[in-house]
Amino acid sequence: MIKPIIIGNWKLNGSKKFIKNILKPLNQFLIKYYKVCTIVIAPPILYTNFIQNILSSDQANFFLGAQNVDTHFSGPFTGEISPIMLKDLEIHYVIIGHSERRVNHYEDNHIIAKKFHMLKQEKIIPVLCIGETSQEHKEKKTKEVCKKQIDVIFDLCGENAFNNTIVAYEPIWAIGSGQSASPKEVQIISHFIRNYIKSKSNNQIKNFFIQYGGSVTKNNAQELICQNDIDGFLIGGASLCLEEFTKIIKIINK
Ligand code: PGA
Repeated sequence: MIKPIIIGNWKLNGSKKFIKNILKPLNQFLIKYYKVCTIVIAPPILYTNFIQNILSSDQANFFLGAQNVDTHFSGPFTGEISPIMLKDLEIHYVIIGHSERRVNHYEDNHIIAKKFHMLKQEKIIPVLCIGETSQEHKEKKTKEVCKKQIDVIFDLCGENAFNNTIVAYEPIWAIGSGQSASPKEVQIISHFIRNYIKSKSNNQIKNFFIQYGGSVTKNNAQELICQNDIDGFLIGGASLCLEEFTKIIKIINK
């Protein structure tokens, strides 16, 4: 049985006050759950040190993640953050390919593949978000879209690309909309993703996880996590509310 992995993506939210209020109780709560469930919090990156200081004497019961990384290791790239710096900050997981970056920052599959490759070089776990738009969903192109988003990674990184990685299947229309994809539909796509990646990896894949993301709440978590090919969640909105987030973790633990 695999250990489910839950990532809280805080996006562009939070403040020192918010972090103080949520983090200590969350960390306390996780004492009971960190052995059965891997929890990652991805705050805005500039709060990393603040978070580490707040926990200072306590053992952190979760890992820290980042929401982005640059395509360079160092140099004249104003405003960017490199994988080497993330490693230096003890960041273990990095979300890449999120639809909000694809749309708002014009990141295409090739840029995302480059980020994936660089993270692997630094032994940081990439959390690769893939998924279709509402239009593509209506046109039943989900598998085709996911395939393209996966192929470009294999092309750059080779057949072992997906060892020690996470793919988050996130239908774009479900993100932040309050309308999650149906568990049955997510299972079909997750199963497809797993088999496709497995076959392109020569059936040799290790430590590979599939998450679902898109309006996960305490009300739909149970049914979603019961699906065979869903190994955890990438959670946006609900990760900002202590009560909601801890409820989801409790549900997964069952
Ligand atoms: P949501 O966001 O849970 O608020 O829908 C998920 C995500 O963007 O990863």
